[in-house]
Amino acid sequence: MLKIKGNYFILETNHTSMLIKGDGRAEYLYYGERVPDFSGAEWLSPEVYWDGAVHPLSLFLQAGRGEAREPSVSVRFADGSYATDFRFVRARIVPRPVLEGLPSAYGEAKSLKLEFLDEPSRLKLCLYYTAFADSDAITVCATLTNGGKKPVSVLSFASLHLEVWGNDFSFTTFDGAWASERRRHTRPLECGKCENASYIGSSSAFHNPFVLLGRKGDVYGVNLIYSGNHREFAESDATRRTRLVTGINPYQFDWELAPGETFFAPEAVMVYGKTDEEVSERMHEFVSRHIVRGKWKDRERPVLVNNWEGTYFNFTREKILNIARKAAEAGAELFVLDDGWFGKRDSDTCSLGDWTDYAEKTGGLESLADEVRAMGLKFGIWIEPEMISEDSELYRKHPEYAMKIARRDPQRMRHQLMLNLVDPQVQGYVFRAVSRVITMCKAAYVKWDYNRYMTDCFDRNTRGGEYFHRYMLGLYSVISRLVERFPNVLFESCAGGGSRFDLGMLCFMPQTWTSDNTDARERTVIQSGTAYAYPQSTMGAHVTASPNEQTGNSNSLQTRFNVACGGVLGYESDLTKADEAELDEIRAQIAFYKKYRSVLQFGVYHRLGDALNGEWSGFITIARDGSKAVSVIAVPEKRTGELNLRVKFAGLDENALYSVKYRRADGSFVPVCQAHGAMLNRGSFALQNLFSETDVRSCSNPLYTRLFVFEKVSARKKRS
Ligand code: GLA
Repeated sequence: MLKIKGNYFILETNHTSMLIKGDGRAEYLYYGERVPDFSGAEWLSPEVYWDGAVHPLSLFLQAGRGEAREPSVSVRFADGSYATDFRFVRARIVPRPVLEGLPSAYGEAKSLKLEFLDEPSRLKLCLYYTAFADSDAITVCATLTNGGKKPVSVLSFASLHLEVWGNDFSFTTFDGAWASERRRHTRPLECGKCENASYIGSSSAFHNPFVLLGRKGDVYGVNLIYSGNHREFAESDATRRTRLVTGINPYQFDWELAPGETFFAPEAVMVYGKTDEEVSERMHEFVSRHIVRGKWKDRERPVLVNNWEGTYFNFTREKILNIARKAAEAGAELFVLDDGWFGKRDSDTCSLGDWTDYAEKTGGLESLADEVRAMGLKFGIWIEPEMISEDSELYRKHPEYAMKIARRDPQRMRHQLMLNLVDPQVQGYVFRAVSRVITMCKAAYVKWDYNRYMTDCFDRNTRGGEYFHRYMLGLYSVISRLVERFPNVLFESCAGGGSRFDLGMLCFMPQTWTSDNTDARERTVIQSGTAYAYPQSTMGAHVTASPNEQTGNSNSLQTRFNVACGGVLGYESDLTKADEAELDEIRAQIAFYKKYRSVLQFGVYHRLGDALNGEWSGFITIARDGSKAVSVIAVPEKRTGELNLRVKFAGLDENALYSVKYRRADGSFVPVCQAHGAMLNRGSFALQNLFSETDVRSCSNPLYTRLFVFEKVSARKKRS
């Protein structure tokens, strides 16, 4: 709900409200838990000090006005000056803007548009605030329009500048590296700035764009609908204000805005909640309803089997078909042929760009895919379309397609270069190549990989300061055309694991490969960090071999499944090596997963415990009608002599009576109790002989897990 009442502008969602005042300048007066009205709003305004100074909560900060802090918008004019004086002009309720070339949220028709003008230069700044009532999210789209006669260089232009009263906040970020993504870090914000940013061209495994600003009782979660270099920072100062800023990273950013042109910053989203949990729940709703789109949005995602960790590059047609046969026998629904099926790809040193069948190896991809389908499975394929190997036909024919700087030896990563997707010709090549692959093997699923960082950025027709962003626009243009052309295909985005897990990619591809680290112990941390911002249906999670390929830890099949069922389930190992007993266990797991799939993928998620505290961690996901729930608890170690490890659940229907049971490796269930949701949400419950019952005989460094199922028996009669 958007309202304009004189100089006051109100945004309301189901549980939050925001009040902005526009009067010469514009400022936030309130953002938090929903209030019934804004009587007393005058009193929210900042004080005017003896020297005439005011310190409002700003919607943006600009250069040249004596502001002591970094501006969120900064430009250089043709005369070499930097100062702007954007003044508030007016507020209107308008149709939501279309962000040229950028992914954005959908599902709300109107925005509150606030216009600001720098009169001398006729540079116009517009902020469009949209309220997504059902998910308690507010988004901002920011634009800069050059109404003057000379070009203007945009040096930085944040998408969102959120400012709140108080300097007692902490700043939470989700950081990591390859195979160690999105680990939560929280630090108190003291005076000064704390940054979370990416400098490698993609949103990165190092610092996810999702961040939290929190204190007891107030938490603000912010994310950016963008997959390139981003920067968030939080800053507190002596004026007792704290700001949280997000947008394109100004690093190597210098965008020339010609007269009449508009620059669109990526859309940013903010969510308020009283706790981290509330923010996560609201973010999940926002992502599920307003980011993920297309045929697969609400559809249960298939259980897949992928051959990568089972074979790496070393496979034959026969091997693939044998794995697929086992997959079909176990009840999987999709087989995914990973890296190694194209060009002459027997290692990672060649063939990227040659998206043609490696027929000597596959025995003919088309017929291989047909044979897989004849087993009752769908066929999916891996591709890494943004890359080029120097040892490839494509490179020999079109060396100019590679991202390189003349007379410089390019940086190689995983032996590969990137394609210069800024160039429309290269975009066309990628679009055609991927289309051909999908059509050739009638793929029902595509894993779109991206396995390096961006370096050697150069395009002869592009200004250097525009390259990183223009690359993203090129990529978005290609993938938007592809998802439009193949609306039935399920796309999963991947970037050396989860290095591009962001809202930009999720606008096109409904799921993301969470991490190349498939160790159950590590995954509890990675998945729980990821789930702060992204729902279960977006997280690819696979059961792989034990000992684990990345860490050497070994775990029971049951534990590996219990952790992987927290996302979109897959298996990624050489299933031909599984014995009958293991296959039976997998069959039972897949049958269980399918039965509870709608809850596991689309239920309301609550984090339980915290994987980082070394104690226990886990989640519960609850059917939207409250009728059932699944919870997985993971305990990292058995501390000899330590007793009474207890778990608390959350989010169950307080008035409903549930029967609770836990699942054994063979698929049978052990009844635990019948209890009302109110009790289950508050009590501290025993883990049911977790240690003695988990099979760890052949495990090293095992993780102990327990999967509980809750089924509603009846609803408690309301007292009359
Ligand atoms: C990346 C992906 C893996 C796998 C390999 C193939 O690392 O994250 O899942 O597809 O590439 O080369």
